[in-house]
Amino acid sequence: MEIVFRSGNLAERPAGALVVGILEGARRPAGAAAAVDRAARGAISDLLARRDFTGRHAEVAVLYPRGLRAKRLLVVGLGVPARLTLHRARLAAAAAVRRARELRAGTVVIGGLGAGRLDPVAAAQATAEGAVLGPWRFTAYRSKPGVPALRRVELVEPGPGASRARAAAVARGARWAEGAVLARDLTCTPAEDLTPARLAARAREVARAVGARIRVLDVPAMERLGMNAILGVGRGSAHPPRFIVLEHGPRAVKGGPPSTVVLVGKGVTFDAGGISLKPRDGLHEMKYDMAGAAAVLGVFAALPGLAPGLRVVGLIPAAENMPGGRALKPGDVLRAMNGTTIEITNTDAEGRLLLADALSYAKRYRTATVVDLATLTGAVGIALGTVVAGLFTADDALAAELLAAGEAAGERLWRLPLWDAYDRDLESDTADVVNAAPTREGGACVAARFLGRFTGGQRWAHLDIASTAWAPAERPHERRGPTGYGVRLVLEWLARRSERA
Ligand code: BES
Ligand code: MN
Ligand code: ZN
Repeated sequence: MEIVFRSGNLAERPAGALVVGILEGARRPAGAAAAVDRAARGAISDLLARRDFTGRHAEVAVLYPRGLRAKRLLVVGLGVPARLTLHRARLAAAAAVRRARELRAGTVVIGGLGAGRLDPVAAAQATAEGAVLGPWRFTAYRSKPGVPALRRVELVEPGPGASRARAAAVARGARWAEGAVLARDLTCTPAEDLTPARLAARAREVARAVGARIRVLDVPAMERLGMNAILGVGRGSAHPPRFIVLEHGPRAVKGGPPSTVVLVGKGVTFDAGGISLKPRDGLHEMKYDMAGAAAVLGVFAALPGLAPGLRVVGLIPAAENMPGGRALKPGDVLRAMNGTTIEITNTDAEGRLLLADALSYAKRYRTATVVDLATLTGAVGIALGTVVAGLFTADDALAAELLAAGEAAGERLWRLPLWDAYDRDLESDTADVVNAAPTREGGACVAARFLGRFTGGQRWAHLDIASTAWAPAERPHERRGPTGYGVRLVLEWLARRSERA
């Protein structure tokens, strides 16, 4: 789908659907909607006068007025003025453009949905993001063509004031949302078609497209580095693990290391639990246990032009967690890449084993800030629900940065404790640590403490996205299924960092 900014008059554009926003409680249309209403001979005024439409957030009315060059007019509710935020504008755009797709509109014209209350440039970006996220569907495995994808979305606003900034914002919003869409598509792909080797092949495609360097370590290469924790997880599967290293940006500046961010994504292509086998209900959804890896690839896909001068490294430990004949057994002891010995008390706590070696590897980027994204624990969903992910870091400044970026992206985070009081749960009778605590209480926090054994000296944050990477029910910008959570949050964080630098 193509998405562009155009300065001009919304009411005059030909399209399959024209979208305008209306605030809840408005008596008559304002701003861009007023001009459209005039051209449409009062169709929106009539709609409001009849009270068939209240402007409730993300409510959509479909009208067929004369006087427009568009085939239909979609009026979307922006909710009450006091609650209008960039995220609510994003969701409203998503709801309207989704409806346009369902109506087989083909092309959509829309104005920024800031209603004169939000910064117009930021509102343009949010509207563009919603326009890409809302109509998304995963159709790769359908035998019959469904509702066709939209061909084109135009964001049209009167110019010329700041039109260049708004055009750039639309392009950025589209690129970021397409990164999230890539993450969704990867996350939806059945595990048999997205084995660790296939995931590495997809990573190569992304790297080629954006000019990133990539190295894929196979089993012998991982053995040479002592990545026994990742190798242990992969042993029970017919599909051997891989370790994927992506790098974008300068290798060095003035002879020294460039400012560096390392993004680590958990890439369990299927989590059956291993010998500590999971129960059968919902098991098919465990193809999404690579959503962290997918988010890292989604970020990479949107990197060009984002943060010049910054080196971004992506580390993806990829493995399938299966109960094959050579699988890890509870009671086995592994020696991770950093020398720490781990007693396996539950083979279903495999994500932290992958991250143990990936975080150890990350230490070669000595001055870097490290952020990992992982569908790590069911416990984080018990603690926080499905609308916010868990943030763990000892660094208050990094926490503040990530919290703010998440708020702006509409991908919320909530900080959870990383206290040493949880360490008792990690004590082993046999090795340095166990991989799973004896009880379930505080599971997300205990898991984060486990990860902390493998990060050394670097600024580090852990995002537990187990409950946000997969939406249990439809939302305006998300369907039931993968959300692409984390892609826009990390892009926002990187963009703000490079603006400060
Ligand atoms: N991939 C799961 C976590 C998960 C659960 C993700 C539900 C998405 C939805 C992870 O590998 C896991 O199995 N964690 C265990 C840890 C436990 C054994 C300490 C869990 O959360 O039950
Ligand atoms: Mn597991
Ligand atoms: Zn897992």
